[in-house]
Amino acid sequence: MKLTCNLYTNKLIRFSISFAFLFLLSGCSKPGSPYFVGISQCSEDIWRYKQNKELEMGSYIFDNINLELMSADDSDQLQIQQIQEFVDKKVNLLIVVPNSTNKVTDVLDKAYDRGIPIILFDRKTNSDKFTAFMGADNYNIGQTMGKLIADHMKGAGTLVEITGLKGSSPAIERHNGFIDALKQYPRIRVISSELGDWTEKSGEKAMEEVLLKYDGHIDCLFGHNDRLAIGARRVAMSHGINNIIYYGVDALPTPGGGIELVQKGILRASYIYPTQGIELMRLAKKILEGQSFERINLLQSAIVDKSNADLMLTQYKELERTNVDIEMLKGKIDVYFSQVNVQRKVITFFTILVILVILLALLVYRSYLVKTRLNYQLKIVNNKLEERNTEQHKLYKQLEDMADARMVSFTNVGHQLRTPLTLISGPVEQLKCDTSLKKEQRQLVDMMHRNLGNLLKLVDEILDFRKIGIDEPKAIGNDTLPIAPSTDDLVKYDLIDETTVEKPEVLVVDDNADIRELLKTILQDMYRVTLADNGEMGLKKAKMLVPDLIVSDVMMPVMDGLEMCRMIKNDSVTCHIPVLMLTARTLEEHRVEGYAHGADAYLTKPFSAQVLLARICNLLSTRKTLRKVFAENVADSSSQVIENIDEQLQTSDNTFIKRLRDTIQQNLSNSDFSVERIGEEIGMSRVQLYRKVKALTGMSPVELLRKSRVEKGRHLLKTTDLSISEIAYDTGFTSPSYFSKCFKDEFGMSPGEVRQG
Ligand code: FRU
Repeated sequence: MKLTCNLYTNKLIRFSISFAFLFLLSGCSKPGSPYFVGISQCSEDIWRYKQNKELEMGSYIFDNINLELMSADDSDQLQIQQIQEFVDKKVNLLIVVPNSTNKVTDVLDKAYDRGIPIILFDRKTNSDKFTAFMGADNYNIGQTMGKLIADHMKGAGTLVEITGLKGSSPAIERHNGFIDALKQYPRIRVISSELGDWTEKSGEKAMEEVLLKYDGHIDCLFGHNDRLAIGARRVAMSHGINNIIYYGVDALPTPGGGIELVQKGILRASYIYPTQGIELMRLAKKILEGQSFERINLLQSAIVDKSNADLMLTQYKELERTNVDIEMLKGKIDVYFSQVNVQRKVITFFTILVILVILLALLVYRSYLVKTRLNYQLKIVNNKLEERNTEQHKLYKQLEDMADARMVSFTNVGHQLRTPLTLISGPVEQLKCDTSLKKEQRQLVDMMHRNLGNLLKLVDEILDFRKIGIDEPKAIGNDTLPIAPSTDDLVKYDLIDETTVEKPEVLVVDDNADIRELLKTILQDMYRVTLADNGEMGLKKAKMLVPDLIVSDVMMPVMDGLEMCRMIKNDSVTCHIPVLMLTARTLEEHRVEGYAHGADAYLTKPFSAQVLLARICNLLSTRKTLRKVFAENVADSSSQVIENIDEQLQTSDNTFIKRLRDTIQQNLSNSDFSVERIGEEIGMSRVQLYRKVKALTGMSPVELLRKSRVEKGRHLLKTTDLSISEIAYDTGFTSPSYFSKCFKDEFGMSPGEVRQG
């Protein structure tokens, strides 16, 4: 469909271009080329002038003919040149009035031989090489005039003839006809046949010659044209000869022409010599267009004398008016055509403009179609690419998942290897510290220690491979074998809670019995150790015993270490207990997960016994520094409430301390207020309360209550006038002496000493 549309558009564009050019050409040229017709006139006179005007008129009437006219000015030589010029210009047709009969024959024969049609008019050559002839019968003219004159002379008298140009056919023929006619009249004597050349001047000259030779009476004079007769008359009259009767030929109807002369009586008669320019053009057109035509066209004519001169002139004037009208019409037609031409050019211009605009619109539309199609194809390609991308992405994801799954199982194997390695490294470590070993035994232990180190390195490399894969920073863990404890570490161990009467209690939670036993072995010298084999059991024991610290594995059945840790930290009874996660999971993400569940410390397997002990020691001593602050805070009502004293301190611990303080401070004066009542108020069992208060403040609830009472007593001693006995009862002591004892135990001074100052 689109292809058809494009083909259609292309055809339309091509058609439009062709049409535009055809239209342009048709707008710029006339239909068909005009014919070029050359006219070679022999002379320039009024007769020729009239004929030339008629020829011009004929070219108007017979459209499509371009005329060019040249006049030889009665010169044979000039006429030969001009005819040659027309031939060179490649005229389509030649109209020639030969000046003389034989002088132009050669050039005309050559033109004829080259295929140029030739019309001879008025005058002839002695060659047969012409296409057509048009003109009057000059012999007949001469003969008619001879008879007319003879009749006027009544057959007797004297006569002068003045001829036209010597050698021109009309002169020859007119003379012959004239002489032949006079042969019938023997009593008429032609005194002289004098030569002229068709001009008035030559008529004058001829008459001078006649009068020189002859001084007798002359009855009549015949000029071969009217101008010759007039010239002769002028000379005769100048000689005082006024009685000659003059005859001529031509009888032009124009002002001063033969008809007017006849009308005025200057000439007795004249013979109309037809100009017939329009007929001449009609003949030329026939020849040019290949129509049939007459080769010899003789023009009919008539004598003009006093009897018809007026009528002739009237007719001529009407004809002239018609000619004027024709000329005017021609002028209008010329204007009309020039306007039409301008309009045609304007229309052509605008048509081309419209066609160009249409072409432009078509081109724009076509480029729009192409663009739309390209966009559509581009969209399809993009969609395909996107589909392929999605598929590749899926494939990649599958591969990645597979690689991840492999990596996870790979890592798990690594992690699982760590537990037995830990179990081996612990005992080897202890053996290494044994000073009672023999030399050979020590060497064997060292060898075991070294190879254990190599094995651990291999496991770590396996786990490092995973870390490289996910671009994870190297996990901080024990990647070396446990080392012997430094002096600093040993000093730290001595610092563990010197205030504690009994050892601190550590709860060990691990599903691996060997690990539990190993930990017990490591810890039991310094701590009371309680064991649990999964998270659920660990949580239960933590709530019941409220130990000082919990060491827990992460991955365990029933409840894992993370969940257990979360629940311990969410319980107000256990939330203060530091939890140390001990796991084979070494990755940073596992560590983060552990801390997110509330773990206080994180150690990876295999662990160093010394580092484990040091870490436990740190956690406990951090608590120890807080205890004093808490104890002061609870016991002294004037001290500020602690808000987030340490970032490791649980919010719930703060809440617990606040509630404990408020409960104690509000019941100080009540001597019946006991530790059991505190437990009830706070919602803890006696044991839980004891372990919690002890852990947070380092004091038992009873000690804390007693301390709070004596603090209040000291405050009252300093700020009131109450007696010591009153103060003792006010602070909940049942006797002043017990108050004084407790006071002195706390501050090293008796209440009386404090009061005095
Ligand atoms: C005009 C003219 C006429 C005459 C004719 C003969 O040029 O001289 O007067 O009749 O030529 O060719």
